[in-house]
Amino acid sequence: MKLKLPATTANLGPGFDCLGAALSLYNEFEVKVLNDNTKKVEIFTEGIDAELIPKDETNHFYYALKKVFEITKNKLLSLEIYIKNNIPLQRGLGSSATAYVGGLVAGNILCGEVLSEYELVNLAAELEGHPDNVVPCMFGGFCITTKIDKKVKFIKFPAPKDLSVLVIIPDKKISTEYARKVLPKKIGFNDAVSNVSNVALLVGSILSKKYEFLRYATVDFLHQPYRKKLMPWMESVFRICLENKSLGCVLSGSGSTIAAFYRKKDINENLLDSVQLKLKKYINCEIKILSFVNKGVITKE
Ligand code: HSE
Repeated sequence: MKLKLPATTANLGPGFDCLGAALSLYNEFEVKVLNDNTKKVEIFTEGIDAELIPKDETNHFYYALKKVFEITKNKLLSLEIYIKNNIPLQRGLGSSATAYVGGLVAGNILCGEVLSEYELVNLAAELEGHPDNVVPCMFGGFCITTKIDKKVKFIKFPAPKDLSVLVIIPDKKISTEYARKVLPKKIGFNDAVSNVSNVALLVGSILSKKYEFLRYATVDFLHQPYRKKLMPWMESVFRICLENKSLGCVLSGSGSTIAAFYRKKDINENLLDSVQLKLKKYINCEIKILSFVNKGVITKE
């Protein structure tokens, strides 16, 4: 069985913990069932940050897969798991969401698909902790997500196909756990009001394709101003992208990646070279041009 799962960008600026979208960069997983009675599971990893991916039961994909066997009261099989990691770890691009969602989906297929997609996405949110990553990873598109009475609720909108996302992926890794520790316990009323306005404007501008509003709608007062001290280059990168035709810039998830939105027609190799050259002064990074994608998990048996 082969699975491909998309990277995700959560928050999109002011939509802290509630907005997320799937991107055209994929982690790939393959599960081979062995016909022996050893019940051994072997994990093989390759690709970006492969050396950091555990090969024991703490591996997110394996952990999630095993969880489905436990819930459905099935005996674990002898397996080989191959992971091709293309989404860098701890950069705010949802690499761990692909592993948890992928493991759950693979486990469910092996156990006869007894769990519904809704049950799987709830399990994924429990394991990974962030519905704004796991929902778009599973279902694709541009998603509004929340938890009501501890259950995930979401609305998926089609991916805005006329936008590109320039992802600026710094060398520096930042764990979500750490990036949440720098957030304040309380925020001012005016900041809360500004975020409510901006997130409404952001959803409205994407759905109505009034992209000229994104420059204002992407401004956030809840998390980016506090996380910026972990990423001192953030404002310079935003400025450079905005001076080079970007519609709006945000921290992707909890960072360290910065996502800059562009009209697809405005982005080309010349612009990319020019942005890359200007960024060099501030940051060691890799840059990719991605699209928003409509599909989440892609499975092949
Ligand atoms: N909404 C979460 C955060 C996303 O910003 O902490 C984690 O990827």
